[in-house]
Amino acid sequence: MINHGPHGPQKLYGDSMSITPQDACKRNRETCELAPIVPVLVVDDAASARPLAEALVAGGLPALEVTLRTPAALEVIAEMAKVKGGVVGAGTLVSPQDVQNAVDAGAQFGVSPGATDELIAACEALGLPLLAGAATATEAMQMLARGYDLLKFFPAEVSGGAPALKAIGAPLPQISFCPTGGVSLANADDYLGLSNVICAGGSWVAPKALVAEQDWSGIEALARDASQLGK
Ligand code: 3PG
Repeated sequence: MINHGPHGPQKLYGDSMSITPQDACKRNRETCELAPIVPVLVVDDAASARPLAEALVAGGLPALEVTLRTPAALEVIAEMAKVKGGVVGAGTLVSPQDVQNAVDAGAQFGVSPGATDELIAACEALGLPLLAGAATATEAMQMLARGYDLLKFFPAEVSGGAPALKAIGAPLPQISFCPTGGVSLANADDYLGLSNVICAGGSWVAPKALVAEQDWSGIEALARDASQLGK
């Protein structure tokens, strides 16, 4: 990102830790291949972070998306990043500052409902592999033109669900997706059976009520069921 300050253009980001779109997608592909489902987590209490992550990892879901939608989210990422076997990312990235905060907290990947030039630039400059959202062929093609061939299909169900994603895949088979938004135990296999889907995201594996009750074995059981999807 270039800041046109009083002394002319200045780089806001150093180059040392930057990542290319190709490397970002390669790393995200590896993360997405760890399990069929990436839990989408909205966590209010940082004290829940470690036991929640441990339960999900134990249940077979190591890749975790922590949404930046609660005041505790950055602390939750930092806590979850300490859990052995987990790969923790930050979701709901909207601004470059979100990207900086996510990197500082230890996030290993970033997820966004869409994509802006500023967000993409920040992720590339700070070395955070971005899984950007796209819901249409045009949005997907715009990201492909920038070098991104792995995207989040969002919001999946209301954008036409698995049939829509299958239809997008016919002319654009080179783009892979992680559908998220309305994905559930009941419909996940419809997505996971598509050739352009690597994994799907969903919040159902960590229901707020079970987190509040600290029912970690219940969450581990939900994760275990989810880990068997698509097989
Ligand atoms: C989100 O950003 O909340 C995700 O899309 C999760 O959607 P879900 O709650 O329908 O799984």
